[in-house]
Amino acid sequence: MDLYKPEKVSVNGETFRIYLTQEEIQQRIREMGSQLSQEFKDKKPIFIGVLNGAYIFLADLMRHVTVPCEVDFLKLSSYGDEKVSSGEVHELKEIDADIKGRHIILVEDIIDTGLSMKYLVEKVKRMSPASVSVVTMLHKAEATQHDVQIDYIGFKIPNLFVLGYGLDFAQEGRNLAQIYILEQK
Ligand code: IMP
Ligand code: MG
Repeated sequence: MDLYKPEKVSVNGETFRIYLTQEEIQQRIREMGSQLSQEFKDKKPIFIGVLNGAYIFLADLMRHVTVPCEVDFLKLSSYGDEKVSSGEVHELKEIDADIKGRHIILVEDIIDTGLSMKYLVEKVKRMSPASVSVVTMLHKAEATQHDVQIDYIGFKIPNLFVLGYGLDFAQEGRNLAQIYILEQK
């Protein structure tokens, strides 16, 4: 299978270099899947992915979950086409699943300021779930300003813009098989 994984990539006039390789990402996802499989055995959790960014991570993660589970998505937007958060969360698609009494695992591509995840955790908690857990592939710990519980983190990363493996810059770059970081000028 040919995957899109150049050494460097240029999007909208900005250059990005490899930060996490395909092997590193896939290895970590195997570990996370096996941990989730143990902790949610007999709980039939519902994974809820945050569109668009989390779709590739969630698709790979779920294939390493070896216990019964379900999946749903919602769509949030806080970035527009910029490299910094707009500071407002917009809901572009609702959750369809019936969450009441269920174990919910919220899945993000990246937690940056924490605004989106804080909003989402509060929203889901109001829907009377049995439990709410948070999984993120990447965490920009230095950038996080909002108080949000994160239960599973793939990788902690510096406070720089990243791209690839579901993450975009102005909607481009999601199809890269690895994670790239902005090259500083
Ligand atoms: P937060 O609400 O500030 O935590 O931002 C979360 C959302 O912003 C994520 O779900 C991403 O969609 C987007 N985001 C944050 N940092 C990056 C980045 O470095 N690259 C691409 N998207 C990002
Ligand atoms: Mg996102």
